[in-house]
Amino acid sequence: MLEKIKELSKQIEDFKIESKEQLENFRLEFISRKGKVTVLFDDFKNVAPELKKQMGQELNKLKVAAQSKFDALQENMGTNKVQGKNEGADLTLPVVPNALGSLHPLNVVKNRMIEIFERMGFNLSEGPEIEDDWHNFTALNFPEDHPAREMQDTFFVQKNPDIALRTHTSSVQVRTMENQKPPIRTISPGRVYRNEAISARAHCMFHQIEGMYIDKKVSFADLKNTLYHFVKELFDEDTKIRFRPSYFPFTEPSAEIDITCNICKGKGCNICKYSGWVEIGGSGMMDPNVLSNCGIDPNEYSGFAFGMGIERVTMLKYQIRDLRLFTENDIRFLRQFKGAE
Ligand code: DAH
Repeated sequence: MLEKIKELSKQIEDFKIESKEQLENFRLEFISRKGKVTVLFDDFKNVAPELKKQMGQELNKLKVAAQSKFDALQENMGTNKVQGKNEGADLTLPVVPNALGSLHPLNVVKNRMIEIFERMGFNLSEGPEIEDDWHNFTALNFPEDHPAREMQDTFFVQKNPDIALRTHTSSVQVRTMENQKPPIRTISPGRVYRNEAISARAHCMFHQIEGMYIDKKVSFADLKNTLYHFVKELFDEDTKIRFRPSYFPFTEPSAEIDITCNICKGKGCNICKYSGWVEIGGSGMMDPNVLSNCGIDPNEYSGFAFGMGIERVTMLKYQIRDLRLFTENDIRFLRQFKGAE
């Protein structure tokens, strides 16, 4: 028996293993269920009792030697295999960068608008999107029978008392005046809602930026100059602005703000309806009723206000012809604004 053990021990030591097949052959020859080492254990029962202790120890040593040779080489080959056949991760390869997202075009333009007004001394204010009748209509001098107060124009959350999704950011003017004393110079960007069918030019949900300046002796010239500067900064020096007489319940006098069409550069196209001009918002001198509704003395203070559509301005800036693109989340559309911020 001892002879056999020595003989096997030498065989195990000398067995060359350089490939997976050789490793498998080694396993079959020595440590599998019918392998030589295993078979030798079967002979153990025939060993004379006085030799059993010594033989047992020798046999176990043999078994451990065979198994550890196998384990060590198997582990080695495992890693070799991965590196050799390139099946695992090659840590030396450069990383594939994650695609970074970009700002939505409406946010790009909104941020730019904020930046321009902030440099003129305006601060930011905000108000809720679900608004009561007072802040959205009554304080702003809307007559009882004004059409905007009808269901077909406004999304009401509740009737009597009326609660609605705000139809314009002018509601924030009221909240700001109620909470601050003049001088006030503030802009309020935000989302607004109107009960309109969705088309290339209209949506039931869009964005506005409201502006308001209240102080002693604020005049229409201040309004004109502020918006004149804004338009040149946002578009370019060649962009012209004009004020067209209009009507809003909360301003007197009121004016619509038009700029030269940035799509056809004033030559005439379907966006500007071949007039060369497009409207970007409304403006005017704050109605004395609005000031006094909000606790500001109209004999002491005057103010101007304006409201612009962020979608409209963005469409002009980037020559976008369909309003629906802003909410469709088409990655091919959104990707084009990478780096625009
Ligand atoms: N709130 C108006 C609208 O949604 C826009 C507007 C017009 C805002 C004149 C003003 C303003 O502050 O003075 O159509």
